[in-house]
Amino acid sequence: MASCSSITSVDLQAQVPSCVNRGISSTSNRGHQCQMFLGKMRKFGLGNPTSGVSFLSSFQGTSLGNVCHRHRKHQRKSKVLRAKSSQKTSLKDDKNQPEFEQQRTESGRDIHSSIDRRQLLISSFTAAGLPLISNQSLAAPIQPPDLTQCQKAALPPGAKSVNCCLPEPTKVIDFQFDSSLPMRVRKAAHLVDAAYIKKYNQAYELLRNLPDNDPRKFSQQASVHCAFCDSAFLQPNTNDFLEIHNSWLFFPWHRWYLYFHERILAKMLNDDTFALPFWNWDNQSVASPLPNVLPAVFIENPSLLDKLRDPLHQPPTLVDLSYSGQDEGLDPTSQRAANNNLMYQQVVSGAKTPSLFFGQAYRAGDANAPGPGTVENAPHGTVHVWTGDSSQPNYEDMGALYSAASDPIFFAHHANVDRLWTVWKSLGGRRKDITDPDWLNAEFVFYDENASLVKVKVGDALSIDKLSYTYQNVGNPWIAVNSSPLSKSSSVAGTKPVSSNGVASPATAEATLLEEIEEFGEEVEGKFKKLEGSFRSKVKRPVKDLFRKLKSQITDEELEEVLVIQGVEVPSDKISKFDVFINLPDADDKTPLNIPEFAGSFVNVPHLGMGPGMNRKATLRIGIGDKLEQLGIKDLSDVIVTLVPKGKGKDVPIVIKGIKIEYD
Ligand code: C2O
Repeated sequence: MASCSSITSVDLQAQVPSCVNRGISSTSNRGHQCQMFLGKMRKFGLGNPTSGVSFLSSFQGTSLGNVCHRHRKHQRKSKVLRAKSSQKTSLKDDKNQPEFEQQRTESGRDIHSSIDRRQLLISSFTAAGLPLISNQSLAAPIQPPDLTQCQKAALPPGAKSVNCCLPEPTKVIDFQFDSSLPMRVRKAAHLVDAAYIKKYNQAYELLRNLPDNDPRKFSQQASVHCAFCDSAFLQPNTNDFLEIHNSWLFFPWHRWYLYFHERILAKMLNDDTFALPFWNWDNQSVASPLPNVLPAVFIENPSLLDKLRDPLHQPPTLVDLSYSGQDEGLDPTSQRAANNNLMYQQVVSGAKTPSLFFGQAYRAGDANAPGPGTVENAPHGTVHVWTGDSSQPNYEDMGALYSAASDPIFFAHHANVDRLWTVWKSLGGRRKDITDPDWLNAEFVFYDENASLVKVKVGDALSIDKLSYTYQNVGNPWIAVNSSPLSKSSSVAGTKPVSSNGVASPATAEATLLEEIEEFGEEVEGKFKKLEGSFRSKVKRPVKDLFRKLKSQITDEELEEVLVIQGVEVPSDKISKFDVFINLPDADDKTPLNIPEFAGSFVNVPHLGMGPGMNRKATLRIGIGDKLEQLGIKDLSDVIVTLVPKGKGKDVPIVIKGIKIEYD
């Protein structure tokens, strides 16, 4: 391989990885190598904005840091560069770009950026008439771990003692679709009949009574979840713990997990038509039985009951889809409105692109948990915490990932999350599955109904039809909930702030407002903000036109504006939450969530997927295009963003490192 110092324009593409791959052992060394390489690039005129290659500075930033990171671990050779699906791009003025050393992300966390900036680079080279990167693999799909190499799971303080290791397999078989399976209908848990309930309870009774070493036993099923969220396995050939939460693996991994769990229950009953129920917490109907309370079936049947649930959250208490670890005491009408608004936010308006919905890219060798999609944060995370017993150290069982699947309601909760994937896809626009091969070819292993270990891939999980199950149609009224503004504030929010009780306060000129509020800006090394109470900041909106040229397959209307909270850092073993408001500088922890200014939440469900004693680091991304429109502020050059720690989130340190807006 040529060294950095002998680089030529012709083999430039090959130098990107090879340069950074050579003898790079420390951060500073790596940075130095990269700087040298970039110097060479500049010599070839690759930084000239008029040559169609105006993105050197982007390359100079995160992307190279990640290429370094990845190639240090994965020195793969000559695989064809696969067409990456367009997940997102990030672009801004060269002059605003911090230097490489400052901009480099920790342990390659800003993966989407890295890929897409590389993509930008590739496009740029083409525009400049230079060779495309064609013979280098820059990443690879996540592979299943070696089940014989299980480590003791890292559990949060006060956790029950559990062994999360799975029985060791004798062999692994590849998954095959079973065309003989009948179409199974997953019904809403509040609507199931007596005959179903009897079977459902019986299935768990049988599952609980299997021998201890049977991988199908209920406790073993629960361990699967613990093992893949609390550091029991390393990714093959790395020192990184495999974590299936807080990334684009969340939806497909859980779909497979439920698929096999359901097949095992069916086997217990010797009934191939058996299907799990789903907990329809998103449905705010007032008709009896209520869908958005803890379903009676999980209380009245001994094998479906779990003692570790919050006694204060028994029916008729309504689910709080924005639960922050403590009760807000909303009246039912306000709770329903807040729940509806959250659903609309997380599934419809805030998740218009695949990466917003699924979460961020997570490839072989990447540090785990780069950032969750909208639904994974809330309502998924919030319902976990709401269900668990708040008097337990970690809101066990449902409130902590290691113990969550010890409660049979876990599977009904996740069936609803899984259903939302299908609902989301039905909404149209860019709401489609990811096409990136590193997602499609990511592989997992699960024990099936015959106790055989089966290897599956993400690409085989995309169609529930092919997996022979479907969902009872219950309607999703929240899809249309925001067709008209929910509060008066929306019509005036462009120019006036609203006070915390949701009532418009005296007019403040928008210009004055913008001037008063400082810009926190993008992530740069050494800068951080600890959230103590509400924190507001002005965020610049970058120019959209440049993106349009690069992503011609996406129309201008389809290009989504994304608010990015960078470098979020929270203790992984503590519940924490903060809410994000747009154009509401006064927002505080009393501000209602059923207003259009509420843009989304960051939620941590306790787990130690990062490895013991580590903080969780993540990026929070929220689609705000519709919201800016709804608030009547889409023509402003800046957006005011307010971050509000909520509930348990007020008791733990929450740090953020940057706020920016980009396009996806
Ligand atoms: Cu694997 Cu709901 O978490």
